[in-house]
Amino acid sequence: MAEHIRVLLSEEEVDARIQVIGSQISQDYAGRQVHLVCVLKGGSFFLCELAKRITVPVSIDFMSVSSYGKDTKSSGVVKIVKDLDESIKDKDVIVVEDIVDSGRTLSYLMEMLDGRSPASLRLCTLLDKPDRRVVDVDVHYTGFQIPDEFVVGYGLDYDQKYRNLPYIGVVEFDNKEQE
Ligand code: IMP
Ligand code: MG
Repeated sequence: MAEHIRVLLSEEEVDARIQVIGSQISQDYAGRQVHLVCVLKGGSFFLCELAKRITVPVSIDFMSVSSYGKDTKSSGVVKIVKDLDESIKDKDVIVVEDIVDSGRTLSYLMEMLDGRSPASLRLCTLLDKPDRRVVDVDVHYTGFQIPDEFVVGYGLDYDQKYRNLPYIGVVEFDNKEQE
């Protein structure tokens, strides 16, 4: 089945919003250092752009958890594929994610990270699909709330494709029968 991408949020819109979130974080963490924890792979593009716009000292670390794979539905299974390199004890941690969908991944992850005694722990997501929420998650910084559609770009993939798109788009499937 062929698919095409419809632009939902342009590169300019996304960049402008990240600038605002960066300024907000810089204000909120004035006089402190912020430790950004990126959830791979989807959060990586957002993390880079966000980190460049934060003016307080920043350190970064990465972790990887299992997600959808080829399917566009959540399996509900969360597995740590790669853990953080450094301890987050006594650090002001912000988890940087691409999208909160059912909330399963993030609720599990936030609880696990909270157990490691950070000084503070917040969640920053580029996208939020509130209509899809199954598990409650406390999101502190949100780029955009979007409708219940499968999106790609800016780190988000469909079957590992489209992460490199500089905008957010909706995957549309061309379901025409061959004549
Ligand atoms: P959740 O556990 O259902 O909240 O799913 C979180 C993860 O699913 C995200 O970090 C993404 O990797 C993936 N995901 C959820 N919705 C989308 C989407 O619309 N496009 C691409 N990936 C998605
Ligand atoms: Mg993700």
